[in-house]
Amino acid sequence: MTTHSEPRPAPLLAVEDLRVHFPVRGGWLGAQRGIVKAVDGFSLTISAGETVALVGESGCGKSTAGNAILGLAEPSGGRIVYEGIDLAGAAPRRRAELRRQMQVIFQDPVSALNPKLTIGQSVAEPLVVAGVPANERRRRVDELLDLVGLKASQKDRYPNELSGGQRQRVVIARALALSPKLLVCDEPVSALDVSIRSQILNLLMRLQQEFGLAYLFISHDLSVVRHIADRVVVMYLGVIVEEGEAETVFSSPAHPYTEALLAAIPLPDPKEQRRRKAIVLEGELPSPLDPPAGCRFVTRCPIREAGCAAVRPSLVPTPQGSRAACLVRFPAQ
Ligand SMILES: Nc1ncnc2c1ncn2[C@@H]1O[C@H](COP(=O)(O)OP(=O)(O)OP(=O)(O)O)[C@@H](O)[C@H]1O
Ligand SMILES: [Mg+2]
Repeated sequence: MTTHSEPRPAPLLAVEDLRVHFPVRGGWLGAQRGIVKAVDGFSLTISAGETVALVGESGCGKSTAGNAILGLAEPSGGRIVYEGIDLAGAAPRRRAELRRQMQVIFQDPVSALNPKLTIGQSVAEPLVVAGVPANERRRRVDELLDLVGLKASQKDRYPNELSGGQRQRVVIARALALSPKLLVCDEPVSALDVSIRSQILNLLMRLQQEFGLAYLFISHDLSVVRHIADRVVVMYLGVIVEEGEAETVFSSPAHPYTEALLAAIPLPDPKEQRRRKAIVLEGELPSPLDPPAGCRFVTRCPIREAGCAAVRPSLVPTPQGSRAACLVRFPAQ
């Protein structure tokens, strides 16, 4: 983690007004029935060595945003700028080079690894694609396995011979093979046993310190990001409702949705738990096929007012020091 007193350098990645819309077809002759606005005006920056946590309920568009950054989902609008270069406008070769500096760790290490390849072969795969000679590849695979806490002697094993935590270590080793600068970690510990989650989180933090890696850490579970995030971005139905330094967002949430998310995390101290305001979200996340026209949170918001359904709030600075999009609390827009 970076310390908060350091001046923030120019961003490694800048996402500007990203939109990812999916046409929904069905019915007679597959006519278009609507548009799922999975990501609908999403802006974010990540600096070198920084951990930005992207949080929100299931279906709010976190993975779609991450996938668009990685080039795995087609943006419908907006810009993805890496080291000052707009990826959409870059020559294909340059774009591929830059994309190589961004790697991904998905939730499920079982489906991320080919069961027919040994651990060594899986970790070597990106090096083969990049044309690294065989002898150097062998040395690098041993080095990568050591970095993630696996033994070089395990490289002839197959994924089904390893535990879940070991498999995720292999996935991390493979993601590091080409020395990336940014890792998109999409729920990297959600599929793992609770007992080994902290081991994998500690490994990610150690690797970050050693290599100055930046992380976009996607999670629906705020308790997971609490100890690792420098900044937190809270997403609701395709848009950002709050963002700020992790300490600020966790200690004084500004948006009612952030408050509700935080209220769902159990506190270790039962007395503190009883003192905390009970904020329970009503109902489910509405469909992104037909999102509310004004504030997207209006249908479930405990402090909504008449104007909220009509006007879409923008992110504005809050007295807490974060930025939040709420017309009732921060009406100066
Ligand atoms: N290819 C697609 N076509 C149509 N709709 C899609 C597609 N991919 C995602 N969606 C929809 O976009 C919305 C956002 O999905 P996304 O997977 O990004 O959410 P998420 O925040 O990552 O959720 P989770 O926490 O469950 O992983 C959902 O309503 C989903 O159904
Ligand atoms: Mg997801």
